[in-house]
Amino acid sequence: MAHESIAAEIAKLKKKHNAVILAHNYQLPEVQDIADYTGDSLGLAMKAAETDADVIVFCGVMFMAETAKILSPEKKVIIPEPDALCPLAAMITPETVRKLKKDNPGVPVIAYVNTTAAVKAESDYCCTSSNLLKVADHVKTRKIIFIPDRHMAAYLQIESGKTVITGNGYCSTHAKILPEHIMKQKKKHPKAMVLTHPECVYEVLELADIITSTGGMQKYAKSLDAREFIVATENGLLYGLRKDNPGKKFYPASESALCPNMKKTDMGKVLESLKTLKHEVTLPDDIIRKAKLPIKRMLEIS
Ligand code: 13P
Repeated sequence: MAHESIAAEIAKLKKKHNAVILAHNYQLPEVQDIADYTGDSLGLAMKAAETDADVIVFCGVMFMAETAKILSPEKKVIIPEPDALCPLAAMITPETVRKLKKDNPGVPVIAYVNTTAAVKAESDYCCTSSNLLKVADHVKTRKIIFIPDRHMAAYLQIESGKTVITGNGYCSTHAKILPEHIMKQKKKHPKAMVLTHPECVYEVLELADIITSTGGMQKYAKSLDAREFIVATENGLLYGLRKDNPGKKFYPASESALCPNMKKTDMGKVLESLKTLKHEVTLPDDIIRKAKLPIKRMLEIS
């Protein structure tokens, strides 16, 4: 079926179920186009918390859909592709968090939103790439536990001046972006500004003009006078950047920065999920209750 006819069927079913489609900035272009809202992790969490739809169809990876469920437990949250998992989120378990807390009594735990609901339930605060420094600053202790991304932890330690105890996680997609990729692009496009995601390795961050979330990159691309940008994050973001800024040029830092999990959701799967309301995200009540606290605290600070 052509994209247009799938989109028309999706629109009909959305109305029937009073559903809203939320899509992350890394989703396939055609999926972003049928979404009611596209954004970064923080923006999507905020939308999930405030929507009055009965059904949320979440086009992203599982931890994002779980966050939507935690914030709107009375709603049906559907993930069109339940195998869309975040390898970074799988790099820390609740047991490891409990051990970190036992070894560091009184040290608050900030969980990156790329964690499972069960890990969030063990944490004091949540954060995303857009409010990491703000949350760390809000926590008044000199020492913090930040899990699971070791590259973000290194960045956080340098920027905040705090001692950061961390896990050993990393994003395998952002890890593909190397300093030499940025240098090569800078040589080709000397006037371009470098936008990097904090999940990149520190040597890449050192070459950045701006370090921010995918939503932050969208904002800066629009508001800055610069006409050219080198973009160091998953390349799905380039679609929205180019669409929103037709007069500007965007170059991927590395052609290989593609997240296979983010590309698993296609229009056919979105349509199927609206037809069947299958792949509902469910979580135990006590996990929802405990995981809500760190997320709410983050939203209050943001
Ligand atoms: P953003 O919150 O910046 O969109 O990042 C999401 C993510 O999962 C990065 O790998």
